[in-house]
Amino acid sequence: MPDPIGDTGALLMRRFDELGAISEEPDKLVRAYGMQSLRRAQDLVSVWMRDAGMTVERDAIGNLTGRYEADFAVTHPKTVVFGGHLDTVRDAGKYDGTLGVLSGIAAVAHLQAAGTWLPFAVEVVAFADEESYRFPTMYLGSGYWTGNFDPVLLEGLDETGISLAQGMRDFGCNPDNACLPVMPRRDILAFVELHIEQGPVLEAEDLPAGIVSSIAGASKFLVTVEGQAGHAGTVPMHLRRDALVGASECVLAINEIATAGADGGLVATVGWQVTMPGAKNVIPGRVEFSIDLRHPSDTARLAAVDHLKTTLHEIGQRRGLGIDIVDVPGADATPMDAGLMDTWRDVFRESGLQPRELASGAGHDAVMVAKIAPVSMLFLRCRGGLSHHPGESIRADDAALGVTLLSRFLDRLATRGITCA
Ligand code: HGY
Ligand code: MN
Ligand code: MN
Repeated sequence: MPDPIGDTGALLMRRFDELGAISEEPDKLVRAYGMQSLRRAQDLVSVWMRDAGMTVERDAIGNLTGRYEADFAVTHPKTVVFGGHLDTVRDAGKYDGTLGVLSGIAAVAHLQAAGTWLPFAVEVVAFADEESYRFPTMYLGSGYWTGNFDPVLLEGLDETGISLAQGMRDFGCNPDNACLPVMPRRDILAFVELHIEQGPVLEAEDLPAGIVSSIAGASKFLVTVEGQAGHAGTVPMHLRRDALVGASECVLAINEIATAGADGGLVATVGWQVTMPGAKNVIPGRVEFSIDLRHPSDTARLAAVDHLKTTLHEIGQRRGLGIDIVDVPGADATPMDAGLMDTWRDVFRESGLQPRELASGAGHDAVMVAKIAPVSMLFLRCRGGLSHHPGESIRADDAALGVTLLSRFLDRLATRGITCA
């Protein structure tokens, strides 16, 4: 009898590779909302869901859900949901988001192989837009899934000027249907996402997995610095209002504010900027850049935001530049469900693992799902803590362990006889 764990690890690694080869671009992994590559990834995952005995549905915004029914003897069963996402950032790794989806499918496949039906249903949901890489959204997929879709988002544009509404149509979805009210589900017993840590802690402590305690809150902005374009050769330095010089002082100031608050867990990133008109012999007249600021405590995060905004406006004043700061959707800090964390501590001890708890600096769909159901997350160590990078990597034995942990979580809930809504 082959060792199912060994098979599971090898099978998962093959699937990560197959899924990781599906990209919008030939030389880097990118699968953003509305792209055909994301549709192709969903088609492949749908096959794996059906092979595991699940029915497959795609909702009005494009989230993909596989469902493994409960024991038919149970009327109105509740549901345990394993979550993940198939969309990626640009030049991504192949485990961020997909780990939750593929591990959830593998745990259901184990049930199917054993001919087991539980007193609750099990779903695997692959959210269609967790990264918000392409459109100005925040948790678009899980936001819709939890009844928190705002139709105003449909007017948002990507960098090429395509609206979210058009992106939705390209994705085979009808924006009118996405605007129909969604009744928040009341049948969810537990939401679980198994995710790579995207940090160095577990590897540094030689631990394969950890239990997430909370998810940091995030404040996000788009800043426009307005100066005066001009001839690079004829405008004397003291008469310039160079938008890029001003933006550069802003970026340094943002970094100093975050560094001063780093001990408390403050981080801030300027990940995107554009300089206009962008000609080598023209003084930049306008610069736009993003700010992504996070902290485990909402109070501390909002205090840092106030400080940052005051500082940027002071720089603008002093340099004779216009500073416009636009809020982009963010999220408050989200604690994980205490009861589910207790269950995970039991599962870890049963598995001979130290129940190491750690906070998540990265955002996850659990932030939205927590609005309607108890949520929990597990982290799996990843090499060097690297993520949002093609060098992202996990071990096959850890991947297999992740499935074992999910299976043992299901066993514990089933033996507690938690059945119906
Ligand atoms: O930005 C984040 O933290 C997540 O990867 N979307
Ligand atoms: Mn990510
Ligand atoms: Mn993720």
